[in-house]
Amino acid sequence: MISIRQLTKHYGSNTVLRGVDLDVAAGEFVVVLGQSGAGKSTLLRCINRLVQADSGTLTVAGMDALTCRDTSALRRQAAMIFQHHNVVPRLSVLKNVLTGRLGAVSTLTSILQLFSREDVALAMQCLERVELAHKARERTDALSGGQMQRVGIARALAQRPKVILADEPVASLDPNTARLVLQYLRDATRELGITVVCNLHQVDYAREFGDRIVGLAHGKLVYDGNAAQMTEADLQRIYPGQPVSAEDAEATAAKPLIRATELRV
Ligand SMILES: Nc1ncnc2c1ncn2[C@@H]1O[C@H](COP(=O)(O)OP(=O)(O)O)[C@@H](O)[C@H]1O
Ligand SMILES: [Mg+2]
Repeated sequence: MISIRQLTKHYGSNTVLRGVDLDVAAGEFVVVLGQSGAGKSTLLRCINRLVQADSGTLTVAGMDALTCRDTSALRRQAAMIFQHHNVVPRLSVLKNVLTGRLGAVSTLTSILQLFSREDVALAMQCLERVELAHKARERTDALSGGQMQRVGIARALAQRPKVILADEPVASLDPNTARLVLQYLRDATRELGITVVCNLHQVDYAREFGDRIVGLAHGKLVYDGNAAQMTEADLQRIYPGQPVSAEDAEATAAKPLIRATELRV
C-alpha cells in the first residue's frame, strides 16, 4: 500500500530524512517510534505531500506521491489525524465529520455546505464506530479532549481513505484516554481494512498497538520488527544517548521539547 525508497528531505543544512526505505502492506498498523526531532512528522507529511521530499521514490495506493499532479486525490486516499485533532470547535460534531467528505464533493457544494443524504449517513456510521453518534448535534467544543480526537478519527474515516496517517494522535491525552483513543483507531481501521502509519513516542503504546514497529533516529530507520522482538539494544538505537529501559525512554520522550524556532527570546 505504501512503498518508500531512499527518501531524503533537507531543511537548509539540516538533513531530516536520510534515505528511508519502508514498505507498508495493506491493512497493516505500523507505529513509527522515535524521539522528538527524529523526523517522524516529516516522514508522515511526505507520504501525503504536505511536505515535498527532495529525492527517492514514494508510492501510496498506486499513486506516485512525489510527482503526482493531483495532490487532492492523494490526500483523499491518505487521511491525516493530527495531535491537536484540528476540529472546528464551533461546528457540530456531525459537521466536523462531514468536512471529511469535502474532498469528495464539488467546490460549489462544499461552499454551500450541502451534503448528500449518503454523506450524512456515512458520517453517522463513522461516529458510531467511535461511539459518539449520540453527540452528533452537539457543538464540538463541548467535548473532552479524548472525544475530540475520536471526532478526528471519525472525520478521517469519513474520507473513506485507504491509508490513515496519524501524527502523535494521543500526545496530549492522559494515559487511559490515550489507550481508549488508540483502541478506537485500531479497531475501526482493522474492521475497514485501512492501512495505518501512526507516529508515537511512547514505547508502551507502540508495543500494545503496533502490528509492527519501525524506529526512526536522526532521519534513518534503525528498527523494523514486531513489538515482541524489540530488545533493549533496539530501544537504545531508537533513543540514542538516552536511558535504555522502556520506562526511562518513555519518561524522557514525554518531556516537552521546544523547537528553537518557537523560542521567542
Ligand atoms: N518546516 C520546517 N522547517 C525547518 N525545519 C523543520 C521543519 N519541520 C521540521 N523541521 C526540523 O526537522 C527535524 C525533524 O522534525 P520532525 O519531523 O518534526 O520530527 P519529529 O516529528 O520526530 O519530532 C527537526 O530538526 C525539526 O526542527
Ligand atoms: Mg512530530
